[in-house]
Amino acid sequence: MSIATQSTDSGLILALSKGRIFEDTLPLLEAAGIVVTENPETSRKLILATNDPGVRVLIVRASDVPTYVQYGAADFGVAGKDVLLEHGGEGLYQPVDLNIACCRMSVAVNAGFDYETAVRQGARLRVATKFTHTAREHFASKGVHVDLIKLYGSMELAPLVGLSDAIVDVVSTGNTLRANNLVEVEKIMEISSRLVVNQAALKLKRARLQPIIEAFEKASALQTKQG
Ligand code: ATP
Ligand code: PRP
Repeated sequence: MSIATQSTDSGLILALSKGRIFEDTLPLLEAAGIVVTENPETSRKLILATNDPGVRVLIVRASDVPTYVQYGAADFGVAGKDVLLEHGGEGLYQPVDLNIACCRMSVAVNAGFDYETAVRQGARLRVATKFTHTAREHFASKGVHVDLIKLYGSMELAPLVGLSDAIVDVVSTGNTLRANNLVEVEKIMEISSRLVVNQAALKLKRARLQPIIEAFEKASALQTKQG
């Protein structure tokens, strides 16, 4: 397979998703002296400028960040552990856990569903999720037989309408589960977002990337300590 556009000029390209990752990355960028000068919530542009002519920001779907970085279309990016586990991490260096966009990956079911008994009795469970790799590994490690149903969003709907017995999704406050009369029955893992760097870019553009990686590391450690 030919690897696409490894950008070879001296500029850096950062891949971010709109919303919580963009918002939580802004203070880390500022710690590295980089200010994004356009707002992705109001602009339709997908390539945003910064105060540094040598740094541009690509706005992509959260689950596409690892792909842009893997193929070198972006030099670095920020992605959730949930997304990285599904992607597999090929071609990516993951130097820093930024401790942003924190949540957990959990199993949830309808309030009336006796999950423990179903698992104990060896029932075959239908599980709807966007995170099929993580779900498959989790249930295989417990020896639970599952039929996975791949969804791309609004997983909470699936048990409500009988599409599945359970879901695997990210949970933070638990408000979405409560609002839909679902209960969290198992925590699979804690999730946070990581800085990901294209492995070739790290060698070719080390002089530019290293200070940014260090600034992100320092600023996220400080935020974690203060938070
Ligand atoms: P896509 O657009 O690719 O479908 P998405 O809608 O899940 O992805 P976001 O909602 O922006 O993208 O979430 C980005 C990351 O933030 C997720 O990969 C996850 O690690 C984390 N995350 C998701 N939901 C929450 C939440 N409710 N609270 C905190 N962090 C979250
Ligand atoms: C995510 C996830 C859950 C929700 C959990 O969705 O798919 O639906 O957040 O968060 P909670 O436990 O705090 O309710 P999404 O990113 O679409 O929702 P959000 O941006 O509105 O949190």
